[in-house]
Amino acid sequence: MRVGIVGGTGDIGEGMALRISQVHEVILGSREVEKACTASDTCHLTLEGKGLPCTISGVCNQEAVDRAEVVILAIPFQHVQGTLASLTGLGGKVVVSPVNPLARKEAFLFTPPPEGSAAQLIQKLLPGAKVCTAFNNIAAGSWKALDAPFAHSVAVCGDDPAAKELVKGLVSSIPGLTPFDAGPLAVSPMVEAITPLLLNIARFQKMRDVGIRFS
Ligand SMILES: NC(=O)c1ccc[n+]([C@@H]2O[C@H](COP(=O)([O-])OP(=O)(O)OC[C@H]3O[C@@H](n4cnc5c(N)ncnc54)[C@H](OP(=O)(O)O)[C@@H]3O)[C@@H](O)[C@H]2O)c1
Repeated sequence: MRVGIVGGTGDIGEGMALRISQVHEVILGSREVEKACTASDTCHLTLEGKGLPCTISGVCNQEAVDRAEVVILAIPFQHVQGTLASLTGLGGKVVVSPVNPLARKEAFLFTPPPEGSAAQLIQKLLPGAKVCTAFNNIAAGSWKALDAPFAHSVAVCGDDPAAKELVKGLVSSIPGLTPFDAGPLAVSPMVEAITPLLLNIARFQKMRDVGIRFS
């Protein structure tokens, strides 16, 4: 599968690239091609140093969209609208949102837009795209810690059954991840709201990279 990561130079993008590029072709995007190439080279060197496979290239965000079958939007919520306005060709694509709108006050709080969730806003902005949530509740540190145990449940929401199956397939192809069909995109506020809960648990218990497992 060709997986594009828009904002692939960030915390979560870098972590996702390290694990996804071992299994799929990753097309890592950035607003700056040079930054994307540096992130792509770093990923390649890290995996090569461990004797692990890696298929990755660094490109601009638009090329990541153009070349990918599945596009992951690994950008902060406040930049979603501007980023989507700067890109073309997302209509008809499977678009994965790991985006969680949250604020840090006395605790981490879920701060969704009027549409209900980041994913629902993205679907409204990209009416032709097949938007699914996935990977919302896995900390970047956990993605990056290649030598640590990695076992997470991934709630997948979406309104297009075929797109949801594709995303579930992507999730289950990554060792340590188990997809769970959480229903339509209307459920995505609940999935996104889990993340500030995890961050609060981590903060108040002095834990790191808290995740979830459904059983
Ligand atoms: N971090 C986590 O542990 C975690 C866990 C689960 C979900 N998430 C979600 O994943 C998303 C990304 O999180 P992150 O921590 O990786 O974010 P981040 O590191 O702060 O930023 C990710 C990338 O977004 C791009 N970006 C920054 N400002 C931008 C702007 N003004 N316009 C367009 N693009 C911009 C940058 O890429 P370029 O400069 O290369 O363009 C940056 O590397 C968020 O929505 C977050 O809720 C994060």
